[in-house]
Amino acid sequence: MAGIVSKTVLDDIRFRSDIADVIDAYITLPRKGAVVKTLCPFHKEKSPSFNVNRQRQMFHCFGCGAGGDVFKFVMMYEQVDFPTAVRILAEKAGVILQFDKGSEPSSDKEILITIHEEAAALFHRCLMKDPIAQPAREYLKKRKLTSAIAEEFMIGFAPDQWDFTVNWAKSRSFPMDKLELAGLVVRKAEGGPSSPFYDRFRNRVMFPIRNEQGRIVAFSGRTLLQDPKAAKYVNSPETPLFRKSHVLYALDKARREIVEKREAIVCEGQIDVIRCHQAGFKTAVAAQGTAFTEDHVRILRRYADGVILVFDSDEAGRNAALRATTLFMQSGLAVRIASLPAGEDPDTLILKEGPEAFQRALQQAVPALDFQINLLSTREELRTEAGLMRVCKAVLATISQTPNAIQRDVLLQTAARRLNVSVAALQSELRPMLKHPAQREAPAEKPAPVARPAHEVMLAEHLGAGQDQVGLVERYLPLTLVSDPLCRRFMEALVFSHREHVDIMEVLTQRDDDNRTLSTFAAGVLSAPSKAGAEGSHHQAVEGLILGIWRTELQRRRLELEQQAATSTDENTHDSLIAQAQQLTTDLNRLKRWDTGEPILQLYAETEPVGSG
Ligand code: CTP
Ligand code: MN
Repeated sequence: MAGIVSKTVLDDIRFRSDIADVIDAYITLPRKGAVVKTLCPFHKEKSPSFNVNRQRQMFHCFGCGAGGDVFKFVMMYEQVDFPTAVRILAEKAGVILQFDKGSEPSSDKEILITIHEEAAALFHRCLMKDPIAQPAREYLKKRKLTSAIAEEFMIGFAPDQWDFTVNWAKSRSFPMDKLELAGLVVRKAEGGPSSPFYDRFRNRVMFPIRNEQGRIVAFSGRTLLQDPKAAKYVNSPETPLFRKSHVLYALDKARREIVEKREAIVCEGQIDVIRCHQAGFKTAVAAQGTAFTEDHVRILRRYADGVILVFDSDEAGRNAALRATTLFMQSGLAVRIASLPAGEDPDTLILKEGPEAFQRALQQAVPALDFQINLLSTREELRTEAGLMRVCKAVLATISQTPNAIQRDVLLQTAARRLNVSVAALQSELRPMLKHPAQREAPAEKPAPVARPAHEVMLAEHLGAGQDQVGLVERYLPLTLVSDPLCRRFMEALVFSHREHVDIMEVLTQRDDDNRTLSTFAAGVLSAPSKAGAEGSHHQAVEGLILGIWRTELQRRRLELEQQAATSTDENTHDSLIAQAQQLTTDLNRLKRWDTGEPILQLYAETEPVGSG
C-alpha cells in the first residue's frame, strides 16, 4: 500500500472499529446481537443472507460471497482501496495515522485534499463576506441561489484577479508546484517578472466538487459574464485526486437516498442538481462537465436499480440521452428518460413552474427504448421500408446491449409493438448481433470463484468451527502439504492464533494483502454451516482430513520415485527407488485409519517443519 501504516496503528484502528457499529452506520442493522442477518448491500436479494458477526468481527454474504473484515467492508461499500479504507476508519475511530518509513506518493493526495478543502473555504468566505464578491452575490441572488444554499453546497467566489489564489497560497506557504498539480494555478508560458503562476479560476462562482466520501477533489467555476465568447464553465483538470469520469456531482449527498429509492436522477449541470436537492429531489446527481461514461454507470449501479435521465430538450441533450442509454443498457440498469419543455432545464423548470412540474416530468419519463423509438420516428420515415429497417437496426443495436435475456425479451416485445413488426422477425435479426456483439465488452461481472481442493477447504472449515482441533494440525500436518495457498495461509494464521492466544481475525488483519483476500476467504470459511455439531465429530473429521492430505502427498512421492526408477540406468539406484516406493505403499495402507496411521504420521512429521509453512 501507499505509505505503509504501521502494524500497531492498523491494529488500533481495527480494535476501535467494531464491525457491527461501522456497518450499522452505513446500513442500519436489525438489532444488536452476536450475529445479525440483513439484506446484502452488495447484491439484490429478497431474503437476508448477509451476516455480520460481531464476535468474530467479520461479515459474510451467503448469497454473493462478499465477506471479510471491517476494512474490506468499507472498501466494498465506499468503493475505495485499502489505504483509503484505513484512512476512513482511522478518522472515524480518532486514530492518528502513522506511516512506516518509506512511505511515498500518497502524501501528494494528502496535501492536495488539504489544498482543495482550504481553497474551498477561502472562496466561500470570499463569496459570503468580501466586498469584492458583491457582483457574485448579486448574480446568485438573480439566479435564486440563496445564502442557505451557498452554505450547504459551499459555493464560493474566485474574484476577477490573476493572483488571488496565488497570493493566498503564498501566505499559507503551500508549495506552488502542488497548487499547480491541484489545477488551481497555471504556469505562465514565459516566466513573468513577478510570479511564474496565475490563477486558473477568475471572476467565477466556484462549486466545490466532492468525491463519494465528501472530500473536495475539484472545482467547477461559472463565469459571471454573459459574454458568449467566455467559457461558461471552467473545471479543474484531472489530478491524482480527480478523475472526471469517477465523480458524480452531489453523490456524497444523494447516495443514502438513492439506496433507499433504488433510483437516481441524473441531470446535466451542477446548478440543476442543487435546485433539485433544494426542491426535495434528493437523489439528483450530475456527471461533471463531461459526457456520461461507463464509470459513472458503474458507480450508480452500486446504489440504484434504475436511473431517470433528465437531459436538456435540445438536440445535443437528446443525443446525449441516447448515448447514455446504451451505456445503461449494457449494465442492466433500467433507464427512463424525462423530457422537459423546450428550452428548460431542471433548474429553470423548478423555478418557473415549481417542483410539481418537475415531478410530473419525472413521472412521465419513458423507458429508454421508447424514447429511442420516439426520437427515431421523428427523424426517419417509418412508412418506407428503408426507414423502418434503419430504425429497427438502431433499436436492435440498443437491445443487443443488455446482458439480461429476460430484459431483452421484454424490450423485443415493446419494439415489435411500437414498430408494428413481428417479434419473430426482430428476434431473427437480433440473433447474429448477439453472436458478434458490436464492440461490446463483457459486463464486468465478478470472476468465477477459484476451485480449491475440497478436502483442504473442509479442513479449514472444521478447524475454524472447532478451534480446539488446531492442535492436531500442529502435531501432524506440515502446512507445506496444503496445496491451496489461501487455505494454507489461513491455517498458518489459525496455528499462530492458537499458539499465541491471539484472536484469529486480528492475526488475519495483520497478514492480509490490500485486497483483503485472506479475510474474505476466512469470513466464508468461518461462516460455513457447521459440518458437525459436537466437538468429537470435528475431531474425527480433522483426523480423517489430515490423513487424506498425507495420503495425497505420499502418492505424489511414490509416483515420483517410480518415475525416477523407470528412467534410472543404475541397477542399484533402481532397486532402492523401488524399495522406497514399496515402503510408501505399505504406509499408505496404514494411513487409511487413524489408529494405524498416527504412528506413521509421527515419523513423517518429525522430518517436516510441522505446523508452519
Ligand atoms: N459544462 C462545462 N463546460 C462548459 C459548459 C458546460 O463543463 N463550457 C458542464 C457544466 O458542468 C454544466 C453542464 O455542463 O453544469 C451543463 O451545461 P449547461 O446546460 O450549458 O449549463 P447549466 O448547467 O444550465 O448552467 P447555467 O444554468 O449556469 O447556464
Ligand atoms: Mn441551467
